[in-house]
Amino acid sequence: MKKGIFVSLLLAATLVMSAGGAGQLWRTLSQSHYVTNWHYIPGKPPGFYQGTEPHGAVLRTFVNNIAYDAIQAKAGGYPEGAVIVKENYAPDGKKLGAITVMKKVKGYDPENGDWFWAKYAPDGKVLAEGKVAGCIACHSQAKTQDYVFSTPIR
Ligand code: HEC
Repeated sequence: MKKGIFVSLLLAATLVMSAGGAGQLWRTLSQSHYVTNWHYIPGKPPGFYQGTEPHGAVLRTFVNNIAYDAIQAKAGGYPEGAVIVKENYAPDGKKLGAITVMKKVKGYDPENGDWFWAKYAPDGKVLAEGKVAGCIACHSQAKTQDYVFSTPIR
């Protein structure tokens, strides 16, 4: 009986944690100070650059060390823990509209490249997260580059 309750609590905690996945990721990103500490994504101009639909007119894209090293090594795919953060700005390049993130989580979604997808408002409010069908459908066009458009991984 006691064990049953423990297992239920554990399950509940796991569910809460997975539901809070994007919230947790946002806190990690904020603490990482990615703007100063991460790399601009290779393959795009450093800093702000002209974007295409649907993400916005002006973009700025960062990768963590794990992603950066894989790109430099032309590793063929991104390893566990690779994170790509893209800031989407209005045409004036000043007003931040949204932040979209891809995070590689081994075993999370094997059919679609094991990416965790997240979209945030500038204040960190989660607008979409998880195995987001819309993100996956479009990024599938870049499947040979592990679902990443901006830079080659092989
Ligand atoms: C209709 C197509 C489309 C949809 C839908 C879409 N994206 Fe993208 N995404 C792109 C394109 C094209 C780029 C390349 C950026 C550019 O140069 O404009 C990109 C770039 C990115 C990048 C930078 C890495 C890369 O692939 O270059 C991230 C991160 C990203 N998108 C996240 C998301 C998330 C999260 C969602 C869902 C909430 C999403 N995208 C939905 C087309 C799409």
